[in-house]
Amino acid sequence: MAIKVAFSGKGGAGKTTLAALFIKALSRDRGEILAVDCDPVANLGRFLGIKDADKIVPIVEMKELINERMEVSADRAFYKLNPKVDDIPDKFARKKDNIKLIVMGTVKTGGSGCMCPESGFLKALLSRLLLEKDESVVMDMEAGVEHLGRATAGFVDNLFIVTEPSSGSIDAGKKIANLAEDLKIKGISVILNKVRNNNEVSFAKEKLQSLSLIGTVPFEEKFLEFAMDKDINIEDTDAYRAVVEIKNKIQKSNIPE
Ligand SMILES: Nc1ncnc2c1ncn2[C@@H]1O[C@H](COP(=O)(O)OP(=O)(O)OP(=O)(O)O)[C@@H](O)[C@H]1O
Ligand SMILES: [Mg+2]
Repeated sequence: MAIKVAFSGKGGAGKTTLAALFIKALSRDRGEILAVDCDPVANLGRFLGIKDADKIVPIVEMKELINERMEVSADRAFYKLNPKVDDIPDKFARKKDNIKLIVMGTVKTGGSGCMCPESGFLKALLSRLLLEKDESVVMDMEAGVEHLGRATAGFVDNLFIVTEPSSGSIDAGKKIANLAEDLKIKGISVILNKVRNNNEVSFAKEKLQSLSLIGTVPFEEKFLEFAMDKDINIEDTDAYRAVVEIKNKIQKSNIPE
């Protein structure tokens, strides 16, 4: 069954790492996976082993395309609300086996309330991607959930808030959870990342209060090598195995009765 999930959390908590592991895990099942990089500093492609991923031009920077599709007026005050976006994934996604990567980029000014054509275009595209029935979608988000407007939030099956076992990271996670609840996002849960011992798990559980902890991922020494540009096989890590368990868990619980 195709699923739509998003990873968010405080800066550096491990959103991109866990999103990549989750995508790898899903790619072992049947079906196509669409990896959506919504981070302003896009690096999901590198984690997925996609060649020259750092050279991919984010959708948001394709000014001509956006102007044409949004039918933007000369003064930029008027534009279309339902641009054609169907062909975008096939035209601009980078493919590796059954994984397609699309790099969205972010609108730099204005934040979540930005009414500019770029923001409208990204929102329209994201809705379109999330409506695709047969494809799983995994989004690597910014620290917050700004990308998910009210219109798209309802299509997300699971929002994973990645936190480290620290007070600050968990507090940030709780804030994101509150915003996500306001947007009526379903399946909100926390993944505790970079765990070194049980004390950290107990600490986090207590601090998370009613927020559900879907799984824990161990601190992985091998990722230190990866951070220093060494090639590692991410599937041969305990962190990967932990993410596979989380994936299995949500696939089971998402099956309609
Ligand atoms: N389980 C883990 N064990 C050890 N190191 C980890 C683990 N998860 C992530 N890291 C490391 O933490 C750093 C930040 O990870 P990552 O880039 O995935 O975080 P992020 O939340 O996407 O950050 P950003 O907010 O900058 O996008 C990286 O150096 C990564 O290798
Ligand atoms: Mg990241």
